[in-house]
Amino acid sequence: MTIDLSGQHAIVTGGARGIGAAAVRLLRAAGATVHVFDLPDVDVTRRESVQAALAAVPVPDIVIANAGVGIPEPPDVTAATPENWEKTIAVNLTGVFHTVQLAAEVMKPRRKGSIVITASTNSWDGEATLTAYNASKAGVLGIMRTAANELGRYGIRVNAVCPGLIRTPLTDWYFDHGDVLKPYFQHIALGRGGEPEEVAQASPATPPVTSPARR
Ligand SMILES: NC(=O)c1ccc[n+]([C@@H]2O[C@H](COP(=O)([O-])OP(=O)(O)OC[C@H]3O[C@@H](n4cnc5c(N)ncnc54)[C@H](O)[C@@H]3O)[C@@H](O)[C@H]2O)c1
Repeated sequence: MTIDLSGQHAIVTGGARGIGAAAVRLLRAAGATVHVFDLPDVDVTRRESVQAALAAVPVPDIVIANAGVGIPEPPDVTAATPENWEKTIAVNLTGVFHTVQLAAEVMKPRRKGSIVITASTNSWDGEATLTAYNASKAGVLGIMRTAANELGRYGIRVNAVCPGLIRTPLTDWYFDHGDVLKPYFQHIALGRGGEPEEVAQASPATPPVTSPARR
């Protein structure tokens, strides 16, 4: 299926590499003008940084809240440090809050748009050594469900994609150590990890539809 996004503006946080960069390529190939919000120019943990970046681009039709970090702390929760907790929650959860809220503010008057959050299978599966990451990814589903319920009346759809293990700079180490992944892949129907393009393809950033006024 060919999706035509000509004339649409898209924002991708964390779009400089990995899954975000794949989404940028796909959106551009579909004709959208894409604005990458990534370090060092845009820091999603800083509200004023997201605000300034949004003010510098046209009102987006599509927003992919994708920036994220994930730092394993083996062997278990007893090794989880408050520093990693603060950093992970700041980027993965508070960063998504800033992105979704501030984007929704400018999108609402136009009564159309699509927001997609990159969540994870870790949003529900409790993978060991990733306490802060798992908490942040569970949290973004709360933002997604609430925002979807609230913003539907403005014609703004809010969804999340929940990828399993995808080969990106974040996960290269695991893919380079195949033995570590053998037991992991046993539980995956395809028996393999994914590629960033497969996640980008799943992001439901189809052309926005204008919604009739409901109030
Ligand atoms: N790779 C996987 O297996 C996998 C699986 C499920 C979910 N995810 C999620 O997908 C998203 C992208 O991950 P990836 O694997 O492409 O990682 P990645 O490390 O390759 O890319 C993450 C991007 O986010 C940016 N970023 C980090 N902190 C930021 C900040 N404060 N402000 C703005 N940008 C920031 C980085 O600069 C980088 O470009 C993340 O939310 C991650 O949790 C990844």
